[in-house]
This record gives sequence, structure tokens and C-alpha cells, in this order.
Amino acid sequence: MEKSKKENHLVFSGVQPTGNLHLGNYLGAIKNWVNLQKTNKCIFCIVDLHAITTSENRQEIKKNTREVAAAYIAAGIDPNKNIIFAQSNVSGHSELSWILSCHTPIGWLNRMTQFKDKAGKNKEKAPLGLYSYPVLMAADILLYKSTHVPVGEDQKQHLELCRDIAQAFNRNYNHNFFPIPEPVITGKATRVMSLKDGSKKMSKSDPSEQSRINMTDDSEMIRKKIQKAKTDSLPFPNEILELDNRPEILNLINIFAALSNLSSEKIISDYKIKDFSAFKKDLSNLVGEEISKISVEMKKLLEDESYLDTIIKKGSERADEISEKNLKELKNIIGFFGA
Ligand code: TYM
Repeated sequence: MEKSKKENHLVFSGVQPTGNLHLGNYLGAIKNWVNLQKTNKCIFCIVDLHAITTSENRQEIKKNTREVAAAYIAAGIDPNKNIIFAQSNVSGHSELSWILSCHTPIGWLNRMTQFKDKAGKNKEKAPLGLYSYPVLMAADILLYKSTHVPVGEDQKQHLELCRDIAQAFNRNYNHNFFPIPEPVITGKATRVMSLKDGSKKMSKSDPSEQSRINMTDDSEMIRKKIQKAKTDSLPFPNEILELDNRPEILNLINIFAALSNLSSEKIISDYKIKDFSAFKKDLSNLVGEEISKISVEMKKLLEDESYLDTIIKKGSERADEISEKNLKELKNIIGFFGA
């Protein structure tokens, strides 16, 4: 992002309150937000309306909402400078989602791979909300006229759809109402993979606790998980080209790179003369230092529910103000009575 333009930037992103926040959420998204807040206006949402699209995530939403707020703050997001809020507390999200759904061809939604993955073979029984989820996500972003959206790589297709919807709306009404938001997919670990299977994304819903490092893990748990992380029978790679067919090693090196700010080349040259156990030991220390600091802070914050509730409530009020103003302008453009 160019410095001179930052005055007009509005950064928006969100995490679902579905429990088990993990290293992928941190490296793919939240860690980058901590940097972006220094020079940009930012809105960080806890997307609880998205969390109810699948039945297994409908329990404990309130608890998980507080957990996400605690993770944001513990990772270094300043709740006074930025807006932290719960999506369901701002009705504009659902309202804009409906309006945008009227401007979204079904063919565009049929291309969404996440729906295909999540609905699986049981497409006929999948809820409509799971199918139209990307339209709600576009509404989240466009409601605030956001310009930049920092996310992990798995959200790229949804952001492309969001841009298409914004352009379609602007074209339909011959009005440059929505800025076309830029995806910000940065860092060295935009797609963190499972510690048990390098072909699968690290995910909140993986039944194996060993597959992910949770943001609430302490350094001992982290050490054990990294020690047991899957590798292969070959020695530590000699050069970067060898990583093409070694997804588990590539993943661990990417995590190392993201946390140490060293290039993959430098990491390989440092460890090729050592062995995997030395690499894993240093990786455990790196992850342990950064994540356990966050987990200690999260635990402290979670003990003070009323503090977290006040942050979310105040943030929701600030978000609602922007939402109301933008929706009024948008309804006027559409030509609704009374707008
Ligand atoms: P969610 O809750 O699945 O994930 C939150 C953020 O974490 C990133 N992420 C990862 N990054 C790297 N490696 C991984 N293994 C990994 N797993 C998750 C995600 O890319 C995301 O940035 N649809 C979104 C939530 C959302 C949203 C929005 C995001 C709803 N509305 C508007 C941005 C803007 C989701 O399900 O994220």
C-alpha cells in the first residue's frame, strides 16, 4: 500500500467466532492487521452471522465472540483506535446482503469452491445461507466502503466475487458508490497447512488437535505439537527447489519464515548442515514465544467479560453509525421511498 494514499484507506476484515483460533488465522490475517492499524483506519469484525451457516458452529457463539475479541486485542489490535465489533449487532450487514444478492447472478455463486467443499455430497440439504455466504461477506466489506481487505489465501475467491458485485452495482446505477476493494494477502504464511497433512489447510474444524497450533496453546503444548508434526524420511532440504514435493517441510519453513522474518533460502542454508530436530526445536521456540504471549494475554482478557463486552458494544455502535450513513446514501441511489 502506498503511503500517500493511506488517508483514504479503510481496512476491513473479520474472523468467524467458531472456536479453535489457530496459527493460520494469526499468520494469514490477524498478525498483518496489527501492522496495518499503524497507518490505516481499520474495522475488525467478529462475523457471527457467518458462524451460523453451519450447524456445528451454532453453539457457544457468545463465548466464541468474546474469544475472538480477546485474540484481536491480545495480538496487539488497539480497541480504542480501531473498531472491533460483532456483525449481528449492526443490522446493515443483513440488509445490504439482501440488496447485493439481487445484483449477483447465481452463476457467480456456483463457482465458489468453499461452498462445494463445505456442502460436500449433501448439496441439496445445505442451508441457503451457506450458499449465499459470499454475498454476506461482500456486504460486510462494502457496507463501510472499505478499500483494503487483509485475509489469508483461502478467501481470495470470495474477494474476487466481492469486487465483481461492487462493479456490477456501480454499473447498474451508473454511480461510483462502492470503491473496488483490494485483497491484501501478504506475509510468508498466507496458507498455513495442517501439521499432520501438508495437503490440507490448518483449520478450526479439523477433529485432530495435533493438526493445529491454537492461539490459546501454551509453550509446552506448542513444543509437543511441533515435535510431532509430520515430516518425511528425507534429510533437511539443501535448496528451495526440493520443497516442491515436500509440502509438510515447506509449511514448517514458511511458518519459520513468517515468525523470524528470515527468507526461506536463509533458513535452508542455516539448517541444512544441522538436522530436523534442531530445526524443530528452534521453530518451537519461535512459535512458542509469539503465541504463548498472546495466549497468556487472551486468558487474562477472557476473565474480564465486562471489559470485552464494553469493547464489542462500543465498537458496534461506531460501526452502526457508518453503516446507517452509507445505507441511507445507497437507498437514495436505488430510489427507495423515503430515502
Ligand atoms: P475464517 O474465520 O475462516 O478465518 C479468518 C481469517 O484467517 C485466515 N485463515 C488462514 N490463513 C492462512 N492459513 C490458514 N490455514 C488459514 N485459515 C484461515 C482466513 O483467510 C481469514 O482471513 N469468510 C471469512 C470471514 C469473513 C471476512 C469477511 C473476512 C466474513 N466476512 C469480510 C474478510 C472480510 C472466514 O471464514 O474467515
